[in-house]
Amino acid sequence: MTDEHPTHGLRRNLTHYGDPDFALYLRRSFARSMGYSVELLERPIVGIAQSGSGFNNCHRNMPELVDATRRGVLAAGGLPLDFPTVSLGETFLSPTSLMFRNLMSMDVEEMIRAQPMDAVVLIGGCDKTVPAQLMGAASADLPAIQLVTGPMLAMDYRGERLGACTDCRRFWARYRAGELSERQIDDVEGRLATTAGTCAVMGTASTMACIAEALGMSLPGTAAIPAVHADRLRAAEASGARAVALARGGLRPSQIITAQSVENALRVLLAVGGSTNALIHLTAIAGRLGIDVSLQRLNVLSDETPVLVDLKPTGVHYMQDLFAGGGLDAVLWELRDLLHLDCPTVGGETLRERLQEPPDYVDRNIVRSRDNPVSVAGGLVALFGSLAPGGAIMKRSAADSRLFEREGRAVVFKGLEDLAARIDDPDLDVTADDFLVLQRAGPRSASGMPEAGYLPIPRKLAQAGVKDMVRISDARMSGTAYGTVVLHVTPDAESGGNLALVQNGDRIRLSVKDRALELCVDEVELARRRHHVPPPQRPSRGYAKLYAEQVLQADAGCDFNFLRQTPL
Ligand code: FES
Repeated sequence: MTDEHPTHGLRRNLTHYGDPDFALYLRRSFARSMGYSVELLERPIVGIAQSGSGFNNCHRNMPELVDATRRGVLAAGGLPLDFPTVSLGETFLSPTSLMFRNLMSMDVEEMIRAQPMDAVVLIGGCDKTVPAQLMGAASADLPAIQLVTGPMLAMDYRGERLGACTDCRRFWARYRAGELSERQIDDVEGRLATTAGTCAVMGTASTMACIAEALGMSLPGTAAIPAVHADRLRAAEASGARAVALARGGLRPSQIITAQSVENALRVLLAVGGSTNALIHLTAIAGRLGIDVSLQRLNVLSDETPVLVDLKPTGVHYMQDLFAGGGLDAVLWELRDLLHLDCPTVGGETLRERLQEPPDYVDRNIVRSRDNPVSVAGGLVALFGSLAPGGAIMKRSAADSRLFEREGRAVVFKGLEDLAARIDDPDLDVTADDFLVLQRAGPRSASGMPEAGYLPIPRKLAQAGVKDMVRISDARMSGTAYGTVVLHVTPDAESGGNLALVQNGDRIRLSVKDRALELCVDEVELARRRHHVPPPQRPSRGYAKLYAEQVLQADAGCDFNFLRQTPL
């Protein structure tokens, strides 16, 4: 009963009963119980990894995307079989979604590997879902296409447009400064996120959509299509159809995600003024295929790659404007002399073939030309020094450059609880020239590296009109946030990094020009303080235990060591 194609379709990954013929007979019987004809069951199978959830507003359009993908698969001669995976709704997870990204990646990898499919369409969108899907697909290394749910629309509100989530923070900062009443902030709350889709700015979700396309893992021109646009459904249909071609012997992720395509993705990350989180995710995706992302190399690329896209939080526009203004094609065209053009894509063409012709239309308010960039250097910069021997990241494109070269007095918060308890204390000894330092919010902390690096301006300073301060932590920051915020300090405090040793009143030197972050305390004193650092508390069971034992630092993408192609 077995045939000459034992690894295709339903014959793939047979359940082990000690009798392959029986396993196939039983599988077919059970598949027929779902009403499929024998003819359909002979087709190549395209799995559709869907991540819809009642806890994920950003995936509200998942059912219609799955339907459209199925339509594309069927029309192209395949059999679509969708399956659920973990879903990560950014604002619904505690302590933070990043902690569960690796769990989702394992789910995706193992379900691709265990079930009988010849190719897979991965449908995700919210911040951690796309990296989790790409990490899982890279490890499973079955032909795969990434489809994103697409960004929300920004909507008109009292003479301006509002979109999650840069505006969420802007209004919250105004509320904290006493500029908005309870009634006004309540009204805004209902107007920030009003359609299906992911955050409307160049936050982590949008950045990851651009990165997926720049890597070659999404169909060309699909990253910026709004969630509610009919083109989003056409992109799903086309992804389904393309997956059938891949199922018949197409490229695998390891042939698409290469050192060259990762560098292309880094260029795009810098040029779009993308999220700091995306650097962690791209590093983790690359690590699944044995590719290292070096922060020193990031700095070289950042100096050569201008910010071209004028979207919040770096600029003023929204993802729907990028879609209408030329999309990622316009960005890639501007960057073409900096890109590795021979990289293949899931669409079947190389980047060079894709970029044969200039885009038909580019709105230069949204995608600037190389000779008139938003800023001449890339959005992200890595800092090194005694406070961050393994590096720290700053999104300079969304920061106040007047704060880039200075030395400041440390005002230290020992963790998230301490921050919450004291940041608004009227007696807090703090001035606008001080550096706010948050400890124990890194990858190995119990909070799993939350997006707490965007420390609020102490209320008394906010009310006095202070808009930005230097803030330093081992935490992350939302891709939609802005400010002079130094993040991902490595090694983190929980792992014994020098960040754990900073005390109130210490001097810290920040120099973006010199790429420097120095704790101005001598080694003898640091050694004395290290002696008094309490040992970390570790979880005793379950996923939290696995996470605490295996999670790597930010410079290794916060992946689990055993999931990397080459463990460290
Ligand atoms: Fe899902 Fe922003 S909360 S993309």
